[in-house]
Amino acid sequence: MINVTKTFLPDKAEYIQYIHEIWDRVQLTNNGPLLQELEKQLKEFLDVQHLYFCTNGTVVLQIALKALRISGDVITTPFSYCATTNSIIWENCTPVFVDIDPLTFNINADLIEQAITPQTTAIMATHVYGNPCDVEKIEAIAQKYNLRVIYDGAHAFGVTYKGRSLFSYGDVSTCSFHATKVFHSIEGGAIISNIPELHEELHLLRHFGHRGDEEYRFAGINGKNSEFHAAMGLCNLPHVPAIIQARKEVFELYDKLLNWDLLFKPELSQDIEYNYAYYPVVFQSEAVLKKVQAALVAEDIIPRRYFYPSLNSLSFMPRTYACPVSEDISVRVLSLPLYVGLPQDDIERISKIINKNL
Ligand SMILES: Cc1ncc(COP(=O)(O)O)c(C=O)c1O
Repeated sequence: MINVTKTFLPDKAEYIQYIHEIWDRVQLTNNGPLLQELEKQLKEFLDVQHLYFCTNGTVVLQIALKALRISGDVITTPFSYCATTNSIIWENCTPVFVDIDPLTFNINADLIEQAITPQTTAIMATHVYGNPCDVEKIEAIAQKYNLRVIYDGAHAFGVTYKGRSLFSYGDVSTCSFHATKVFHSIEGGAIISNIPELHEELHLLRHFGHRGDEEYRFAGINGKNSEFHAAMGLCNLPHVPAIIQARKEVFELYDKLLNWDLLFKPELSQDIEYNYAYYPVVFQSEAVLKKVQAALVAEDIIPRRYFYPSLNSLSFMPRTYACPVSEDISVRVLSLPLYVGLPQDDIERISKIINKNL
């Protein structure tokens, strides 16, 4: 079977060496030495000042909202994974959906201003497929209206924009280190903040709000990650440049083989170093998508409808919004298999099946 993704695994012996160390120390979690080492290496690798390694890419969104004291309305994108919106609802805020740009599939920054109300306190936008949002426009709007900016950078590990880590934009950025991501720690995530006064609070928020032995500062949550997860991160991190290069090669081969007269894909922003996190293609209609999907599945090739459906259409959203671009793209977009070691023959076969069914 060829799945949309295949988890990268490091050398087993290397991971086991870390497991021996954990056994010897008998410290399995609670800010252990491997976690601290991973945080140090991640900060260096990503060139960011403050980063906390947490349990996943969802709880870090909740921690970000909590740390920034976000309440009321949060402007967000309907074209993301449900974790983005769910975190807003979970924190008792209301998602206000702003439609996406038809070229990049990121939130359309030109539509944000008209969605702002007196209740708006923040913008939570996703760097969709790791492709940067219009961070300059978003920052200008945030300054004008005194809003906080949180970027869901679940897909954006290692991406730079204008020579800077994409995580260095906005007030807080988050990332997911789930096993399906470019860099993973089995489960995991990180919160990266560019507001120095927030750092201690972020650290405490992921640890119940509990400091030292006896001080309980506020209602935090358990967002700590374990030594076992940190060990996987430490094994994988040195491979990231090679992982990105291998993904780039798959990406470029699809670029060459697919029939672009009948397909399109999101436009990458200028001035970036990309991580080739996903390979989404958009069909002319949902009917064509379904035909292609069925033809691939018949050959045991499993692409993913990602993102689908448009989040504004989920039944549990507190308010109704029309987002015609997101609704249209989400029914026509399919992410194709993309991972390290996907053989060239298979990329050719996948491309042939797609082209034949357009
Ligand atoms: C855009 C986006 N945000 C958040 C998440 C949640 O990450 P996690 O699975 O680590 O909780 C995902 C997961 O794929 C995602 O795609």
